[in-house]
Amino acid sequence: MSKIVVIGSSNTDLFAKIKDFPKAGETIKGISYFQAMGGKGANQALAAHRLGGDVKFITSLGKDTYGLSSLEYYKKEGLDASLSFMADNTPSGVAMIWVDEKGENSIVIISGANEMLSSGYIHEIEKEILKADLIVLQMEIPYDTVKTVCDIAYEHNKQILLNVAPARKLDADIIKKIHILVVNETEAEIISGEKISEIGEQAVVDKLLALGAKSVVLTLGRKGCIMKNESEYHVIPAFKVKSIDSTGAGDTFCGALAAGLNKGRSWKDSLIFASAASAICVTRMGAQPSIPTETEVYDFLRKTVNY
Ligand code: RIB
Repeated sequence: MSKIVVIGSSNTDLFAKIKDFPKAGETIKGISYFQAMGGKGANQALAAHRLGGDVKFITSLGKDTYGLSSLEYYKKEGLDASLSFMADNTPSGVAMIWVDEKGENSIVIISGANEMLSSGYIHEIEKEILKADLIVLQMEIPYDTVKTVCDIAYEHNKQILLNVAPARKLDADIIKKIHILVVNETEAEIISGEKISEIGEQAVVDKLLALGAKSVVLTLGRKGCIMKNESEYHVIPAFKVKSIDSTGAGDTFCGALAAGLNKGRSWKDSLIFASAASAICVTRMGAQPSIPTETEVYDFLRKTVNY
């Protein structure tokens, strides 16, 4: 099987379950608290790994308790993070996450060691990265590092899946190097400079394709997703589930999509697989604790749509 390399963030997620989000200046009592592994990079790497991909994860951690526990956890999960950068005198990344009764979240990240994943380090381990067929990136590491990976991948004809989360504008030459651009509505609007409410979802997808991405996947939360490239167009409705916590659902989708496509499944099958994986994720609390296994996803699909 071919290889996926995920390059991105690791955080320790500190969760507070609350009834309603507090207003500025307000103190509220939360319902419960818990801690789990997170970070968009780590979530996507673990999702691709649990969902059948052959994955290497490259991240940056501090040499503190959170960093060492993360490494320990990846090892226990069988996720290869051996090429990760260990930053001196820098705390590992953390995320403070509030989740309300509807399962919606609000996240503040303190990047810490994630900011130390430099272009210089990427060049040091370039040979290892180039063993991959598909490289998966997000935006919780320095933008310069993301650009360096895109340049190297493009030069060596490797495919990039870029999930532009957290949202930001992309340089014109970077978007042209992306094979699979995965964005939600906000991210799509920021990159395209268009409003979905004004021109519609499909026109925004067309704009992103015109900017140079080879395939675009627009995720629409409870409405599902749209995928388009030169030869295919799919509209995949979301599975209806009771949402407890949406944290990590987008990451699970990206990891599952990468695993599906990398295994040679069709676009349609990979999108359905990814939608099912993220539907399961929202029915559980936390990011990494909620990522299902491949068997769980197939059981869900069998029960839900007799797939
Ligand atoms: O996408 C969810 C993730 O965003 C959380 O795990 C948190 O760490 C932040 O990176």
